[in-house]
Amino acid sequence: MLPVAELHMHLEGSLEAETLVTLAQRNRISLPSYDPDVLRARYVFDDLQSFLDVYYEHIAVVRTAEDFYDLARAYLTRASAAGVRRAEMFVDLQSHTQRGIAPAAVFEGVSAAIADAESESGISGAVILSFLRDLGPEAAAATLSAALPFRDSFIGVGLDSAEVGYPPSLFEAVYRRAAAEGLHRVAHAGEEGGPDYVWEALDVLGVERIDHGNRAMEDPALVARLRDDRIPLTVCPLSNRALKTGPADLADHILPAMLAEDLLVSIHSDDPAYFGGYVDDNIAAIRDALALDDAQLAQLARNSFASSFLPEEQRSARIAEIDRFAGATESADVRG
Ligand code: ADE
Ligand code: ZN
Repeated sequence: MLPVAELHMHLEGSLEAETLVTLAQRNRISLPSYDPDVLRARYVFDDLQSFLDVYYEHIAVVRTAEDFYDLARAYLTRASAAGVRRAEMFVDLQSHTQRGIAPAAVFEGVSAAIADAESESGISGAVILSFLRDLGPEAAAATLSAALPFRDSFIGVGLDSAEVGYPPSLFEAVYRRAAAEGLHRVAHAGEEGGPDYVWEALDVLGVERIDHGNRAMEDPALVARLRDDRIPLTVCPLSNRALKTGPADLADHILPAMLAEDLLVSIHSDDPAYFGGYVDDNIAAIRDALALDDAQLAQLARNSFASSFLPEEQRSARIAEIDRFAGATESADVRG
């Protein structure tokens, strides 16, 4: 299996319906149904907000360090089976602290899961603290302050939740503080918001990666900037289809246009429990819809490691591994 890095997934979006039921029972929280199939049948969305309403409602079942451990461990086990060798996971800390959960419970549970998954399967994991943009910049600043006692438990900051109406520039001060702390910086931009949000994320927040970025393709000058500065775009095909931020038919997805522009794109799952699959499912769906060949899939996998925050020697080692894998596949094709 082709090794990949998963750089755009929300830990809270990996809460499978079965785990939702288990944790609701463990914590005595009521749900509209205790049948995972009935719960899953609700996963039909009109847009980002209609999804976020369900996502925030469901996360109420995750309360203790043990719950966070179980959630992260389940994701890392599934991701490892999908070929993921590096997972940089968004954690929406505010969606927990708002409910009275202590940051320590979140970080302790997730850090322990990362350590155990790493010793079990060799997967490397990291957390990106993601600010909920619709709660505003003061709440983001307070969240960074609450998280800094756990500075060793996360590697960067991100920006997610409802996009339109909450431009990146609102968060300039908190991103400046994060940079001063030596944290990596990424932001969701151009998912529902326009190219102006992507420009702001780059120029005002100084982000190193854009999450989604699909609408950047509407602005040729921005496309040139992304290409020239090798800014990674973390693209999530099944999410785009489920949230109608992309075409209903993946055959019409924007990915080929991004590749044709020589952008540093890679494929990720966003919220795998809600959008119909993990990173392997996303890769298979886009491969089938666009008839991508092995060389293109290998390039997407190389891009994922090149876009990661792994130390340089580990990035190069993973890319060399893909080169060997791709070479072996080619010679198998020749023989076959
Ligand atoms: N939070 C979880 N998934 C998200 C997405 N796709 N966009 C913005 N915020 C999110
Ligand atoms: Zn996302």
